[in-house]
Amino acid sequence: MAYETIEVRPMAGALGAEIAGVDLTNLGNQAFSEIHQALLDHQVLYFGDAPLDDDQLEAFTLRFGPFGDTPFVACMPDHPNIIEVRKDADESGINFGGRWHSDFSFQETPPSLTLLNARTVPEAGGDTLYADMYSAYDALSDGMKTMLEGRRAVHSARRSYGTGGRFTANPNLTRMTVHPSKEGDAELSHPIVRTHPETGRKALYVNAVYTVRLEGMTDAESAPILDYLYAHSTRPEFTCRVRWGEHGLAIWDNRCTQHYAVNDYHGQARLMHRTTCAGTKPV
Ligand code: SIN
Repeated sequence: MAYETIEVRPMAGALGAEIAGVDLTNLGNQAFSEIHQALLDHQVLYFGDAPLDDDQLEAFTLRFGPFGDTPFVACMPDHPNIIEVRKDADESGINFGGRWHSDFSFQETPPSLTLLNARTVPEAGGDTLYADMYSAYDALSDGMKTMLEGRRAVHSARRSYGTGGRFTANPNLTRMTVHPSKEGDAELSHPIVRTHPETGRKALYVNAVYTVRLEGMTDAESAPILDYLYAHSTRPEFTCRVRWGEHGLAIWDNRCTQHYAVNDYHGQARLMHRTTCAGTKPV
């Protein structure tokens, strides 16, 4: 589409666009509606010049819809809808979000959007990769599409936040405050192919962090199919990469993307503030 009030520069062949020419703290309705349209068109938007404070980040998030629920990870005491995605310079372990996933897909109504605003970024490294789950679906063979049609996959937070999850086994894995619990062991299912409620396009909706098996199959039976879908959906031609600047803000659509926070900046700090918008039940 033609944008009149914002500049939209595609980042890669499949998805992602950089947006320039807007002040997110003073956004008119037309500029907001063009940003919303750009997000539907490109799935991931990056604003290089978005030095928002926490109130402004919340206000901008609310333009897209109400906040999502954030279980298991502590929010900021004075901003209960923002989490600090943090890895300090002297931490040598894992980073938050460092494997391909779609945010909180273990929820009945997973977040539609996530917004991530940089506070401290490494000199180099700490990029976020995104994968286009529309293109991944479109590129499947007709045979695979037919096999997946109407099938569901089981999702759970248990490997991350359950009683046997990695944060229970090792509470010092990160300095972020994580609260693993029995609720983390719960399971529910979503369609493997979901239809985006706004664009009407079909997208693959499985990820290696929260999807545990195909409904009605054992783990062992599911694994080869899921492993194929994970490898297929993150092929380089379906991805883009956000290189963070210190005032950067990214927004992504969890209904048609996965993302991966690259953990390649040991010895340097990275701090981001993250909000989500409530989504609907995947169908
Ligand atoms: C996340 O998975 O939400 C965090 C992504 C990032 O820190 O780049």
